[in-house]
Amino acid sequence: MINFPLPRLDKDKKLQKYLLKFCRIKKGEVWDDPKKKHKVACIDAEDNSAIKKLMGRNKAKLAVQDPPYNMVAFQKTRAEEFAKWCGSWIKNTEEILSENSSLYVWLGADQKNHLEPFAEFILMMRITGFNSKSFITMRNQRGYGTQMNWMSIRQELLYYTKGKPVFNIEGVYTDIPKVLKGYYKEVKGIKTENLQRSKSVNIRAGNVWIDVQQVFHLLEENVNGCFAQKPLKAIERIINVSSNKNDRVVDFFAHAGTTLIACERLKRKCTTVDIDPIYCEISIRRLEHLRETGQTGWQNSNPFADEILDSRTIKSYLKKEYNIVYKK
Ligand SMILES: C[S@@+](CC[C@H](N)C(=O)[O-])C[C@H]1O[C@@H](n2cnc3c(N)ncnc32)[C@H](O)[C@@H]1O
Repeated sequence: MINFPLPRLDKDKKLQKYLLKFCRIKKGEVWDDPKKKHKVACIDAEDNSAIKKLMGRNKAKLAVQDPPYNMVAFQKTRAEEFAKWCGSWIKNTEEILSENSSLYVWLGADQKNHLEPFAEFILMMRITGFNSKSFITMRNQRGYGTQMNWMSIRQELLYYTKGKPVFNIEGVYTDIPKVLKGYYKEVKGIKTENLQRSKSVNIRAGNVWIDVQQVFHLLEENVNGCFAQKPLKAIERIINVSSNKNDRVVDFFAHAGTTLIACERLKRKCTTVDIDPIYCEISIRRLEHLRETGQTGWQNSNPFADEILDSRTIKSYLKKEYNIVYKK
């Protein structure tokens, strides 16, 4: 049971207005980590000069981008326009990445609508300075379309590079043990079985990730109120493989601050951006919460629970609209 639930924030403008006053940065502002590792900025990913100013002379080794596809803002937007919009923040990403670096982009593909905007996006990427490296599919547990279609349980993740970036092979292994023996091969005249030759007793994730649990309310990492949170395990896999300790990692669509949390845990420096001050605040609070408690999210609570408990107005609003009761 969640003690202090928070409804989906994107769907409730009034609740957003209430929470805005608890946010420490406004549009155009930057939060500098007192420990001097990370930065959280409330800016538009398309804003070239704001992104450049934010980065200063720092270049990042890795970008993990999770744009708001299939969301309210883009539901009525044509896929071509979406791809054009992506082109502008991809250009910004390219400019602030170092010579040898990696870019990962989470994308949707609407199976009922010619898999938009997947094709438009990958075609747009052909005219950038990035090289395509992999098309990863992550398996979700929940899906949609079970009666008259194959249940959609995939999440697309594209991997691009600039130059020759690091690829830490030890990070590609899952926790799933290898069980199949076979594939005999002669090494120096001796017949060896595949387990003898391999680097790990576990299988590689490959480009189909079946071992990542989708975020839901019972997980510690859950951030109530957020609706598009990526699993920490997936982001940590990307960071482990495509960056080294102390490298700078960027994420232009922070939301629940998953990349920031992963960077803190894996000793990378994170520069993250969200256009909405509420998600900037959530990201900062999630980092502070991690540093104070060691926990990666709120599970039974939410980032604004204390303020809500102290606010008669918000409490009565939540009771009236959602029948949610806040009690100490
Ligand atoms: C799909 S969510 C990202 C989820 C994130 N990876 C996580 O694990 O929590 C997209 C986020 O992008 C933000 N956003 C939308 N348009 C933006 C823009 N032009 N610039 C920066 N952020 C934007 C939204 O406010 C939302 O929080």
